[in-house]
Amino acid sequence: MQQLAGPIKYQEWNLDTAQMSVQEFRDRTGGVMLALHKLQQIFGYVDDSAMPMLGKVFNLSRAEIHGVKSFYHDFKSSKPGKYTLKVCQAEACQAMGSQKLTEDIKAFLKVDFHETTDSGDFTLEPVYCLGNCASSPNIMIDNETYGRVSIEGFKTLADALSKEAV
Ligand code: FES
Repeated sequence: MQQLAGPIKYQEWNLDTAQMSVQEFRDRTGGVMLALHKLQQIFGYVDDSAMPMLGKVFNLSRAEIHGVKSFYHDFKSSKPGKYTLKVCQAEACQAMGSQKLTEDIKAFLKVDFHETTDSGDFTLEPVYCLGNCASSPNIMIDNETYGRVSIEGFKTLADALSKEAV
């Protein structure tokens, strides 16, 4: 297994910082998407208070901004766990048992998709192909992909990551 990296560190949500960080996308094609990505990169999610601010910056209604954000399920509305854990639900991984792995992970972490564990360590999300089909079933933790994952292997990894997160 790969060397463990600590969790990604996000800043606390701050509307002024958010506003400053999206200015560079003001006149860009697809600026709203770029801005949403940037905010998620900095804060780990896009707070609802960003909607009117983005509306002003991009000269769009709040509903239009919200529409873009909610169309793409990758944008989170609340602070994620220290690690974002994605379990592949696409065909090749399914053929290698990802549905059972998903159920076992949910039971182990006591969360469903889009939820965060009580410890605050993991937010569980589905993902549809990580481009690593030859090593199915796959999971991704933050930016790291892990292949041929068993529930036992996952438990060991999760315990190690939880210790890193302290
Ligand atoms: S189907 Fe899971 S990585 Fe491709």
